[in-house]
Amino acid sequence: MDEGEADRYGVMGYPVSHSRSPAIHRLFAIQTRQDIHYELLEVAPDELETAVKQFGRTGGKGLNITVPHKSEVARLVDDMSERASIAGAVNTLVFNDDGLYGDNTDGVGLMHDLQVNNSLELKGANILILGAGGATRGILSPLLEAEPGSIIIANRTFPKARSLADHFANQGPVDACRFEDVRSLPIYDLIINATSAGLKGEVPPYPEEAIHPATFCYDLSYGSRPTPFSRWAARHGAAKSVMGWGMLVEQAAESFHIWRSVRPDTTPVLKQLTVSIG
Ligand code: ATR
Repeated sequence: MDEGEADRYGVMGYPVSHSRSPAIHRLFAIQTRQDIHYELLEVAPDELETAVKQFGRTGGKGLNITVPHKSEVARLVDDMSERASIAGAVNTLVFNDDGLYGDNTDGVGLMHDLQVNNSLELKGANILILGAGGATRGILSPLLEAEPGSIIIANRTFPKARSLADHFANQGPVDACRFEDVRSLPIYDLIINATSAGLKGEVPPYPEEAIHPATFCYDLSYGSRPTPFSRWAARHGAAKSVMGWGMLVEQAAESFHIWRSVRPDTTPVLKQLTVSIG
């Protein structure tokens, strides 16, 4: 491949040096024989607009946007998908002749990892989501589309959970509570950690009552070692405790598809990534 002529993509975040996106997209490109160049771009919040515009002006074709820029970048696009608009966040940018287009592939990435990679049946399932920030907002609509029996959002700051639940109530059975009000019933089929506590090395008082021997626990965060939430879940007897590596690879595959109109096979890439992480 001649990188000088390859179409340019990249991931913008702050910090971003830990990002596995370049490795994932390189594997996708090799597998699908696409000639792309994918960069790691560390951009501070006050430089975001300039950096995005500069990337487009210099011929860049698309960007992944990660923490902490996903909501802010939604203000910069000329047009965005319905799922990005519902999530209030953009993680994929496409530089078109007629402007900047934003999409959000996080929700579909999570759904694919849960339903396909982990064979989880979500129809009729009782789901508990911990946290009520941007990450929760981004996954509520796709989760509700799978017709779960119930979704409860538990958050340290109750009014944030309440307002998210109210916002999505017209899409399905979603309610809110405080961490300390989570009970052992209904039996939760799935608990999703959507707090950012682990990123800061904090362990909130996660509700132990919610874990049943049949409960599948999923952390949207991931790390080379088990996250505090995934350790907590395993310690309290969850059926399975999984980190969000699969979601990372699946959201990347969806972005790659948007950019290149070809869908990579994620299975070998996820396998290679988890082997490299150890
Ligand atoms: P994100 O976009 O990653 O969701 P966010 O919008 O800042 O980030 O939301 C972070 C979420 O993690 C919030 O639900 C936050 O709880 P509060 O609404 O009470 O702030 C939750 N969170 C972060 N650190 C936490 C901690 N130590 N204990 C409990 N919840 C925490």
